[in-house]
Amino acid sequence: MNPTAGGAASFLRGSRRRFAPVHGFGILAVVSGLAALGACSAVEDVLDPVHADAVAALGPEVFGLPKGPTHRPGQPCLTCHSGQGPGKSEFSVAGTVYKTKPATEWLEGATVSLTDAAGTIRQLTTNQTGNCLIKKSEWTPVYPMRVKVSFGGVSIDMLTHVGRAGACADCHTDPARAASAGHVYLVADPANFPVGP
Ligand code: HEC
Ligand code: HEC
Repeated sequence: MNPTAGGAASFLRGSRRRFAPVHGFGILAVVSGLAALGACSAVEDVLDPVHADAVAALGPEVFGLPKGPTHRPGQPCLTCHSGQGPGKSEFSVAGTVYKTKPATEWLEGATVSLTDAAGTIRQLTTNQTGNCLIKKSEWTPVYPMRVKVSFGGVSIDMLTHVGRAGACADCHTDPARAASAGHVYLVADPANFPVGP
């Protein structure tokens, strides 16, 4: 099965898809904008205001996914999972991988290889929504860190180092713009996507 972002969500939920796959991000942008305006008071009560705004800007859960390893694909996980809440578990590195540069499909089963400045290597595997993570209690990289993504005999290196940010989506937001690399993808051109894992 090669589900689209929206399709995989309905696959995971076993019910009708709520967002059309291609337009999902546009709708999410509107939803997060409204959430930011409406400022979630429950969150603000517990968190410091600047952090609360950053969390509120991400809006409610997306694609009907439950809070857990598959939720909020494409979002900057560490905004909520680095000790300030509302995520209780703390991650050192986390992110989402898409199949192609047009980021319409999550890539499950990709290997994300992280090599830190001490030469320690950690390999994470992406789940059904392309997410991967490593908990802070398991490993904290010595920065700078090198990153590589592999799947089906295809590998793509991130050419630059990651200097500090553990959340891929701190830089890899969609759509790509001056300050953003766009979502993490395996192949730029869908025609080059590998046939088998
Ligand atoms: C807007 C805040 C927010 C963002 C962004 C976010 N999460 Fe979460 N996450 C939560 C909350 C709240 C919970 C429920 C409390 C908990 O278990 O930590 C949760 C739970 C989890 C859990 C279950 C933790 C456990 O120990 O059982 C995992 C795994 C997880 N998130 C992964 C991710 C990943 C991967 C990303 C990025 C793709 C992400 N989260 C992005 C808020 C967030
Ligand atoms: C500090 C910002 C930053 C962070 C954090 C970051 N990246 Fe990147 N990434 C970039 C930039 C900029 C590029 C484009 C230039 C290049 O290849 O270095 C890029 C390119 C890539 C590429 C090449 C193909 C593509 O998608 O553009 C991959 C693969 C990649 N990154 C994976 C990751 C993964 C996985 C993570 C999280 C573990 C991550 N990156 C975290 C900035 C970042």
